Amino acid sequence: MSDDLNILILSCGTRNKIVQYFKKELNGRGLVIATDCSYLAPALYEADEQYIVPKMNDEGYLDEILSICKNNNIKAVFSLIDPELSLLAKHKQSFIDIGTVPIVSELDVIEICFDKYKMFEFLVQNGLPTVNSYIDKEQFFSDVEAGVIDYPVFVKPIKGSSSNNINKVSTKEEVEFLFSRFDNLMIQEFMDGIEYGADVYIDMISSEPVAIFIKEKVKMRAGETDKSISFKDEELVELIKKFIKGTGLKGIIDVDIFKVNGEYYISEVNPRFGGGYPHAYESGVNVPELIINNIYENVNDNVIGHYEEGVSMMKFNEVKILDPKEIAST
Ligand SMILES: Nc1ncnc2c1ncn2[C@@H]1O[C@H](COP(=O)(O)OP(=O)(O)O)[C@@H](O)[C@H]1O
Ligand SMILES: [Mg+2]
Repeated sequence: MSDDLNILILSCGTRNKIVQYFKKELNGRGLVIATDCSYLAPALYEADEQYIVPKMNDEGYLDEILSICKNNNIKAVFSLIDPELSLLAKHKQSFIDIGTVPIVSELDVIEICFDKYKMFEFLVQNGLPTVNSYIDKEQFFSDVEAGVIDYPVFVKPIKGSSSNNINKVSTKEEVEFLFSRFDNLMIQEFMDGIEYGADVYIDMISSEPVAIFIKEKVKMRAGETDKSISFKDEELVELIKKFIKGTGLKGIIDVDIFKVNGEYYISEVNPRFGGGYPHAYESGVNVPELIINNIYENVNDNVIGHYEEGVSMMKFNEVKILDPKEIAST
């Protein structure tokens, strides 16, 4: 039993595909176990075993996850939601002590990724091209006066996700209105161009990026990539590698990039499986395999660019019907 390669997926939500891919890759070598705080998370029922757990911020949450890991001989754990990444990184040692490896980046870089203004500052400090950003609206207004930046601009929450509360804004009055209604907003130069997403795997042992899948985002829906086309460009691969070097980013990450007037700009980073990852997997970029190799303490070979260009992905809906007797219990 102790040789089983059991994997725990936290806050699985609606990410059924991720569960399926891990089951397929394990192919009987171990179980995929999933958790969520709601029994209505469909991905739970895709897993070999499932646990309904408290909400992440509830007392006792971490202990419960640790005991699930211990009792099920879990070899690796990762989360599909942003707020949980810090928790895993903060308590990495507690997991390692019981034989579970958290597939997660370093805490300091996770906190930079979670705060879009901190990410802007980090990119600027490191000489990387990014989107001009402000948190001080008076500074922004004075830069408008000085001709440094012009409308339209983009106003969004510093710690936003799923495209919540994003606004294209054309006047000072609108900026004032949004800042009076909402806290923690940032103002960005409006990027009028093409948007790309990169699914990147940074080897947990060598800390080198070993897989990079780039897609042009053709259509977004509810904050997720809904339609995309695979894309290749050496210049963008080099920019991504340069960005990652020395950051402490590890495992699977998702990078948003804009291209405006032929130049690339790094926009934001989610240090977890992005919603568009199925496109990468179905194109042969097998991150579950890379993770499993790392769990076996093998360094992965570099497979950057091992996919076809011009392959499209379209998402569509599925439903899960749950009989009362099938409901996962807490
Ligand atoms: N500065 C910008 N200019 C134009 N569009 C933007 C800008 N920032 C964000 N967007 C659009 O809003 C979407 C969501 O913004 P993003 O910063 O990626 O936040 P999140 O994905 O965390 O909600 C992006 O995918 C992009 O389509
Ligand atoms: Mg985004």
